[in-house]
Amino acid sequence: MKVSIIGSGYVGSVSAACFAELGHEVICIDIDEEKVKQINAGIAPIWEEGLDELMQKHTQKMLIATSDYDYAVQNSDASFICVGTPSGEDGSIDLSIVKAASASLGRAIAKKDHYHVVVVKSTVVPETTEKVVLPLIEEYSGKKAGKDFGVAMNPEFLREGKAVYDFMHPDKIVVGAIDERSFFVVSELYRRLDCKVTHTNPRTAEMIKYVNNSFLATKISFANEVGNICKQLGIDTYEVMDAVGTDFRIERQFLNCGAGFGGSCFPKDVKALIGKAKDIGYEPQLLRSVVDVNDKQPLKMVELLQKKLGDLKNKRIAVLGLAFKNDTDDIRESRSIPVITELLRLGADIAAYDPMAEESMKKIFHDVTYCKSAAQALEEAEGCLIMTEWTEFRKLDKEFESMANRVVIDGRHLIDPKDISTDVDYEGLCW
Ligand code: UDX
Repeated sequence: MKVSIIGSGYVGSVSAACFAELGHEVICIDIDEEKVKQINAGIAPIWEEGLDELMQKHTQKMLIATSDYDYAVQNSDASFICVGTPSGEDGSIDLSIVKAASASLGRAIAKKDHYHVVVVKSTVVPETTEKVVLPLIEEYSGKKAGKDFGVAMNPEFLREGKAVYDFMHPDKIVVGAIDERSFFVVSELYRRLDCKVTHTNPRTAEMIKYVNNSFLATKISFANEVGNICKQLGIDTYEVMDAVGTDFRIERQFLNCGAGFGGSCFPKDVKALIGKAKDIGYEPQLLRSVVDVNDKQPLKMVELLQKKLGDLKNKRIAVLGLAFKNDTDDIRESRSIPVITELLRLGADIAAYDPMAEESMKKIFHDVTYCKSAAQALEEAEGCLIMTEWTEFRKLDKEFESMANRVVIDGRHLIDPKDISTDVDYEGLCW
């Protein structure tokens, strides 16, 4: 089949390369000429494991890029909207990019004689596809949904860093379509994948995405709350979760307590669902608590440090890990951001290190010393906060020796106390 993909960010470029790998002819549409050039040269616009290889394999054969909507729509059966949906000031989602893409798509569909399917892959709150995208396409194309063009919502469930793998090995494919024809076109695209396709309507598909992420976020905040209680009682919460997680109805994953969740999805999606609920007059209590627990958790790291070191003014504190999780340079909603903000407020002297995310963090914090290794950050430090689950932070015993005061607070359950010497004052955040 032939598909066009609007937006060459993380979701768009992964979807484009993977659809090409599944044997479809793909046209990427992006208003950014630089990205268009990059893709046409076989270079992936973002880093994702396995993406460069797929781009090189398919560019100029199964995959091309353009900024010309008309060309892309004329030469494809379906267009996927994969543009960003950032958070607005109040946490609700900002649909301006989705609206602009829908208008451009509508103008291109106006010039097409055949049926074309519009597929929303961007994460949008329930009702957006039917109440925002569909009317815009009708308005700009002058055509009728369900008759002249189809509409579907097909959410993604891709983890950053593992997005190519997740696309090719899905545990679910959800297609919310306004009619059978749209459903058929979208589900055909995934035919080569060994996965059942859930056939539903667009608003349910939109909700599935939010509920999926909100539930995972809820599991983490739940684990953090339980961890905080266990710590007070001298119980190892990891041992508790290992046992509780054997119940197949609960499952062990995402029950690791620590500094909380960050990233481009969980915080934004939970807040957007809260915003949508409020719009319809419902005050969600549980989801609010999920956000509250997550906001407080990183600050507990600083509180623990203060308990051990007293006033932090002018004390050198090593912050290990800036990315929101390991194996990425993404710092969006990283738990290290509130921690650094608080440490700066308290007048601490911060020595930070991250294997990949230094450049991104430099744009936010200037008053931080960025180090080239964990060893450099730890030298002469009074305390150390482990913020990200990078494997290289597991074995730091030798490096801790150079600290002025060996206080180590682990926010990611990375260090086994058996692996470090007894003169390190090690404490897990909530275990
Ligand atoms: C997530 C979802 O997993 C993915 O399905 C969705 O499409 C996008 O959001 P991602 O943001 O890449 O993916 O990160 P993920 O690996 O899920 O981790 C999210 C955050 O939760 C990280 O900050 C991680 O450190 C934290 N986390 C995860 C915990 O604190 N505890 C856990 O048990 C698991």
